[in-house]
Amino acid sequence: MSEQIKAGREWLLPDEAATAAWATRWADALDDGLVIYLHGPLGAGKTSFARALLTTLGVGERVKSPTYSLMESYVARGRPAWHLDLYRIADSGELEWLGLDALADPAALILVEWPERGAGALPHADVEVRLDYAGAGRKASLHAFTARGEQLRRRLEGAN
Ligand SMILES: Nc1ncnc2c1ncn2[C@@H]1O[C@H](COP(=O)(O)OP(=O)(O)O)[C@@H](O)[C@H]1O
Ligand SMILES: [Mg+2]
Repeated sequence: MSEQIKAGREWLLPDEAATAAWATRWADALDDGLVIYLHGPLGAGKTSFARALLTTLGVGERVKSPTYSLMESYVARGRPAWHLDLYRIADSGELEWLGLDALADPAALILVEWPERGAGALPHADVEVRLDYAGAGRKASLHAFTARGEQLRRRLEGAN
């Protein structure tokens, strides 16, 4: 299985197994709820990352891309977990019927693809991950906005 490679402030993810390995590091570093915004173009690996993280956290069922459902809910390590993909949303007003109030639970793990399309309707990000193409593989960088996001970032940095 490939590993992620730390390069300066970025992680190089040469293949999908490396993305999964990086998500496993996140699972090791998580001990609280967390709101993760996932940025990057189509095909950058946002869903791959979310799927690997949720699966590592013990979600037994298949983690589908929420492209059509917009939102999927899981239980991960005994906590509520939500995976959203807002690509198809043109205006955050369209999200009113989705019941985003449930996302206010501070114990929840929340992963959001295309969060900019839900601006104002989503909980604030603890961390933002940016995935991008890098040759045949991908690269990732992250930004922490809160104390628990910063703690996670330090743990990830320290783990490599
Ligand atoms: N690190 C990687 N290197 C190369 N290919 C990857 C990597 N991570 C994921 N992939 C592949 O790229 C595609 C990513 O798709 P997906 O995760 O649905 O992207 P997104 O949700 O960002 O649109 C999948 O075909 C996956 O197998
Ligand atoms: Mg996706």
